[in-house]
Amino acid sequence: MNPPLLSLKNLTVTVSGTGREKVLVDRIALDVPAFSITALVGGSGSGKTTVGLSILRLLPLGLRVKEGEIVFNQEQLFHVPPERMRQLRGKEISMVFQEPLQALNPVFCVGYQIEEVLRCHTSLNRRQRQQRILELMDQVGLPDPSRISRSYPHQLSGGMRQRVMIAQAIAGGPRLIIADEPTSSLDVTLQARIMELFLKLKEELRLSILLITHDLGMVARMADSVAVMREGKIVEAGKTKDVLEGPQHPYTCQLREAMEG
Ligand SMILES: Nc1ncnc2c1ncn2[C@@H]1O[C@H](COP(=O)(O)OP(=O)(O)OP(=O)(O)O)[C@@H](O)[C@H]1O
Ligand SMILES: [Mg+2]
Repeated sequence: MNPPLLSLKNLTVTVSGTGREKVLVDRIALDVPAFSITALVGGSGSGKTTVGLSILRLLPLGLRVKEGEIVFNQEQLFHVPPERMRQLRGKEISMVFQEPLQALNPVFCVGYQIEEVLRCHTSLNRRQRQQRILELMDQVGLPDPSRISRSYPHQLSGGMRQRVMIAQAIAGGPRLIIADEPTSSLDVTLQARIMELFLKLKEELRLSILLITHDLGMVARMADSVAVMREGKIVEAGKTKDVLEGPQHPYTCQLREAMEG
């Protein structure tokens, strides 16, 4: 069997505040196989975002990876220098956040923000980059790319902004996208469309996706495998079908009951 694209082993993240260190992520193990969607599901505060940010070494001040391994494409990310980490971000691993208005820069038009990724991670010249921006926008389903590329984030709808962020995420040609609640800020119809877009891109670009969500319904529709997280620990993991049809942990049962309403 091929090794997983991403493998977390014994990952522990702590926060130091008033003297004592608190454990936010507690010795978790998680594999993301190549060309698959792996969901990390759990309630608010369970530590999902912290796991995603650890992988890209983007933890906020005060939080640190205390121990464990983060192996991406057989490279130990824990020990690579900051320079290598900057190369990996956007080029090999991208992140899509819940709230595009926070992730996009309000003072630059969105085309420019996609171009930044192309400038950092490809050898395309200026004209080729302009062409590529339009192709990327088309690929993520944005209408009238040349007009939209000249727009500022606040001039676009929430769904369009989310598509811009996805265009930015795929611009460097990554192998893994970490999508942290990528549709929580959208209404239900738009959520479904964005999920369809992720499924399409996964096939077209042969991507792997680590899908962070609290929505078990989305897991059922999207993910090949799932890990259930609670209070910093992974309490259950396996193929989506197995976990949803025969949950072993009471917490997974609770989540499933909540999903069925
Ligand atoms: N900067 C920080 N300083 C201190 N504690 C933090 C910080 N960021 C997160 N935490 C704590 O870490 C825990 C996990 O937070 P995290 O944001 O990873 O949860 P989550 O599963 O993503 O939740 P949500 O579904 O609400 O996004 C929470 O208890 C949170 O209070
Ligand atoms: Mg979160």
